[in-house]
Amino acid sequence: MASVATDVAARPEQALVLRFTAAERVAHWVHFFAFTVLLGTGMFLYVPWFQPFALGASGEAARLAHRAAAVVFMAAPLIYLIWSPREFFYSLKESFSWGADDWGWLKNAWNYYAHGRTGTMPPQGKYNAGQKFNALTQIVTFWLFVITGLVMWFGRGSVPPDLFLLSVVVHDLSVIATVLLFMLHIYLVAVHPLMRESITAMFEGTVSEEFAAEHHGKWLTERVFRKRKDVKRQT
Ligand code: HEM
Repeated sequence: MASVATDVAARPEQALVLRFTAAERVAHWVHFFAFTVLLGTGMFLYVPWFQPFALGASGEAARLAHRAAAVVFMAAPLIYLIWSPREFFYSLKESFSWGADDWGWLKNAWNYYAHGRTGTMPPQGKYNAGQKFNALTQIVTFWLFVITGLVMWFGRGSVPPDLFLLSVVVHDLSVIATVLLFMLHIYLVAVHPLMRESITAMFEGTVSEEFAAEHHGKWLTERVFRKRKDVKRQT
């Protein structure tokens, strides 16, 4: 990690590295858009204060918008898979690969983020341990949302009442889990001073090598720098 950062600091101009492909960015924003609409319309049905809006024509509109957004929500990972299968499977594999560096990162995350770069952060891959945890939660809750949502959508009156009730409870628990992570995610990418550049990657696709070296050192050396060497070797 230290050697990567030193190599990068020695460069006269800050080069940019591609962190997210167009497919990843489009899938991310489609997912973000669908999630916020689902959350907003779901809240109309869930929060007692909004009960008046859950009735009559406004209730019908909220239910229709919730179902339309659910279709978009289900399409987001398909966009990623079809458009960029290599990156899709790379990211999937990485989210499930945990080692000593990930546990070391988690152990020191509070010091690093709350006290400003204190302690040693082990080098991370394309996703750090926190992002991997977020990805795994998103994968699990995605399937819980899809299964329970489809039961509520098409199963009313035809599935046993207990199964219907269980679906509502699991749907609601998935909302709580994803909203907590969503708030942390928004805070880190939009507010936290050490993570400012991460949002640029989701708009423009790139981050500086300096940022990549500090936050994703393993990925920078193993994937970005090695790829460059391979290209040079071919030419
Ligand atoms: C594939 C994805 C999803 C499907 C198919 C789906 C479908 C549904 C359906 C059919 C309902 C019942 C609405 C009614 O009363 O007619 C519902 C309720 C709800 N959904 Fe979803 N939904 C999905 C994802 C989400 C997501 C991502 C969120 C929020 C982050 C969410 C939040 C809610 C909430 C808060 C309710 C109200 C639950 C209650 O009354 O206790 N849904 N959903």
